[in-house]
Amino acid sequence: MGQFEIVRTVADLRAQVAQYRRSGASVGLVPTMGALHDGHLTLVRSAKLDNARVIATIFVNPKQFGPTEDLSRYPRDEAADVAMLKEVGADLLFAPDLGEMYPEGFSTSVSVGGISQHLEGASRLQFFNGVATVVSKLLLQAVPDRAYFGEKDFQQLQVVRRMVRDLNIPVTIVAVPTIREADGLAMSSRNRYLSPAQRKMASALPQIMHDTVTELRGGSVAAPIIANAKGRLHKAGFDRVDYLELCDEATLQPIPAARASSRLFVAAYVGATRLIDNWQVI
Ligand code: PAJ
Repeated sequence: MGQFEIVRTVADLRAQVAQYRRSGASVGLVPTMGALHDGHLTLVRSAKLDNARVIATIFVNPKQFGPTEDLSRYPRDEAADVAMLKEVGADLLFAPDLGEMYPEGFSTSVSVGGISQHLEGASRLQFFNGVATVVSKLLLQAVPDRAYFGEKDFQQLQVVRRMVRDLNIPVTIVAVPTIREADGLAMSSRNRYLSPAQRKMASALPQIMHDTVTELRGGSVAAPIIANAKGRLHKAGFDRVDYLELCDEATLQPIPAARASSRLFVAAYVGATRLIDNWQVI
């Protein structure tokens, strides 16, 4: 095992990857925005199982934050992230600064139609253009064998898969199941915005998702079941529900009742914190 290293430029990243390639090593890539938790680390652990070398990336991508979103207060703690990455055995961290990713005059945007327009795409205009642009850059900068994405952001995973297929990017996309806290809340860097009281309230989300998915599995008409679940979310203290929808996993379009490969998707606010989750129905 070599030493853990940090590189901040594309040139240094490429030199490192070239060295791995010369030694015949396969390469896994784990893109993140930092503030790492066990969800991210599980991606790194999965990558280690499949690849001789694992590269994590940390870049808080301004292009995927809306004007009213939390870019400036997004949690950043590189020292803590590095300690965790070393602990799980990552080989390299690529942590470029803004100028390295988007130099003066940067004008290209990658836009994935269809599946990026509903759910997160409807609530957050431009979000998936920002994600697709930065992920395509990261994949082309490192050219790994495999890149790892969490099902926690299921629509993002599908957008990345579509993009990789459409642009013939030579990388295999690997999906990793959602890692949850003991009460079922999906781990997220944004959970650290929650006050202790809000964190307690947030545990209603996985409970309601669990109950709703169980009801939907019978194949009954989804609308009344979902209306009831929304009522429960509001009663539990969720201030706003952007969406709670049963969708087809491949198209991410709403469907009237559960069928093979359906998923329940939610985005809801506790105070100013927006939580998202998705549960497989069938
Ligand atoms: P970030 O939110 O930091 O997440 C990085 C990766 O970790 C994503 O693939 C995400 O789905 C995965 N992840 C987060 N929480 C998880 C959990 N609880 N269980 C399993 N996987 C989890 O997603 C992004 O960053 C960005 O959009 C990025 C892809 C890096 C592009 O900027």
